[in-house]
Amino acid sequence: MKIIKLLSICFSLILLFACDDNSNSKIPEPSDFSEEYYSGGKLGTVFNETPYAYELPTPAVEEQGFSLAFSRGEAFFEKEFNTNTSGVRNGLGPVSVRSSCLTCHPGYGHGKRVDKYRASEYGNSYLLVVTDENDNYVTSLTGMPQVQAVYPFLPPVIEDKIKIEWKEHVDEFGNVFPDGERYSLIYPEVTIPRDGFNVPMPDPYKVRLEATIGIYGTGLIDAIPDDSLLAQYQNEKILGIPLNDAKYDPANFVPEVDGTSHPGRYTYGLSRGTLQNGPGANAIWNITNVTRSDRRKHYITEAYAQAMSQRTEIQTVLGKTEQEIYDYLMSKNLDPEMTDEDYIEFMVWHRGLAVPAARNLDDPEVQKGKSLFSQAGCTVCHRPSWTTGSDNYSGDPLVENKLPRYPYQKIYPYTDLLQHRLEMVNDIRTGWCRTTPLWGRGLSEKCTGASDHLHDMRARNYTEAIMWHGGDAAKSRERFRNMTKEERNSVVKFLEAI
Ligand code: HEC
Ligand code: HEC
Repeated sequence: MKIIKLLSICFSLILLFACDDNSNSKIPEPSDFSEEYYSGGKLGTVFNETPYAYELPTPAVEEQGFSLAFSRGEAFFEKEFNTNTSGVRNGLGPVSVRSSCLTCHPGYGHGKRVDKYRASEYGNSYLLVVTDENDNYVTSLTGMPQVQAVYPFLPPVIEDKIKIEWKEHVDEFGNVFPDGERYSLIYPEVTIPRDGFNVPMPDPYKVRLEATIGIYGTGLIDAIPDDSLLAQYQNEKILGIPLNDAKYDPANFVPEVDGTSHPGRYTYGLSRGTLQNGPGANAIWNITNVTRSDRRKHYITEAYAQAMSQRTEIQTVLGKTEQEIYDYLMSKNLDPEMTDEDYIEFMVWHRGLAVPAARNLDDPEVQKGKSLFSQAGCTVCHRPSWTTGSDNYSGDPLVENKLPRYPYQKIYPYTDLLQHRLEMVNDIRTGWCRTTPLWGRGLSEKCTGASDHLHDMRARNYTEAIMWHGGDAAKSRERFRNMTKEERNSVVKFLEAI
């Protein structure tokens, strides 16, 4: 006991004298909390609190010999693609959502709130979600609607016409805590007039925003076995928590390239089951429209191909007939613009991103916040830890056995990877939203320049994020609301530490 005390005093002294931001060596001395400092497990955690903390390779990348591939792959995330037909990162278009991943994922983090939708603005992390009266995606637009096009084509959505308004929201408590402290809440209202589209639109339609989610550590999440996900679903079911049951019907699992399928674990909508067929693997194609050997077609709708090919000015500029233009846009036989080697290195980078280690867990206030977080029932959805499996991915022969692995790691993402309904005004499509991982978020401002939260970035800090928890999280929110100011502050301190 004495030894542990002594060690923890030494540890505090080390922290006191080692507050240099650039120090890469804050591996804590053994203490009661030493295990949890490794948020991403021994193979997945970096001890780094610099503005680059979200961008670093895991220890596994180095140990397993992927360092060079990691840095080459990184360029495909960070650098812009261009509309050239040959050379480096060519092939952007004919329509695209953005020119690079990084424009949407500023500093590799959770995005930032903006007032104006501009595809070229660094940090505009928003994807437009355009749905019909039944909340289904509008079929004349791609699921990720494009606002950029290569001349003479026109973008399906005209970005000048997108209007984002941030509105004040007064909740049922008048935005006042029982102890008198005030908070304020805002939410986005997005409209695009009918003439803001270059494709036919249904009547009515509505527009929502979805912001990015941090991408660091997604390789560790991939290493959690499907069985563990399904067990989590069963456990919450037994507790009587309302869940999106349809997602756990094997008929609705997400198919891999080789025909096997998995329950969803990525994106707010749980639309992706593995990282190798995940949001990033798809985005490198559907954000840019850069083709590769297994995607020899454009990410485009038939309605768009029809609308463009019928325009006489486009036919004139290209010197092609309507049929020729339509066939080009809808072709399933285009030349690959990205090589397989480039794609594999991109995926090495993607699966190789480390989680920053937790900080200050020994601080008594953080410890107090941690137990309040648990007492308030936050851990029901924000499940603290998971253990990865053997992590032998198979499903896409192109990348099988070619990526970093994370077998049997205890990780602390603070999510159950299931969806819940928080019932906010202008809510996410369908109302079901995956619990966002909380790890690393405390470094958000430093790494990305913003610390906004929730699926559309409506929350400007942790307190606002928690106060937006209604619906199936309302009970838990109530416990937070009724805490003293000091207690609420310690919950926030805890969130900043993990
Ligand atoms: C238009 C902006 C945009 C661009 C560009 C973009 N993303 Fe995203 N990304 C998003 C949004 C929005 C989400 C959350 C979407 C959702 O849940 O449906 C997301 C989610 C993700 C996730 C899932 C994280 C999780 O925890 O589930 C990963 C991984 C990811 N993006 C990687 C990439 C990569 C890699 C690229 C480039 C190839 C990229 N993204 C380009 C907007 C973008
Ligand atoms: C019923 C499940 C549930 C409970 C209980 C719950 N949460 Fe959440 N939490 C979610 C979901 C789902 C989201 C994502 C919502 C969104 O993005 O719109 C979320 C998002 C968050 C976020 C924002 C993450 C980000 O960066 O976008 C924070 C912070 C958070 N929760 C903290 C808490 C705290 C603190 C408690 C306890 C007082 C709590 N949550 C209780 C389901 C829950």
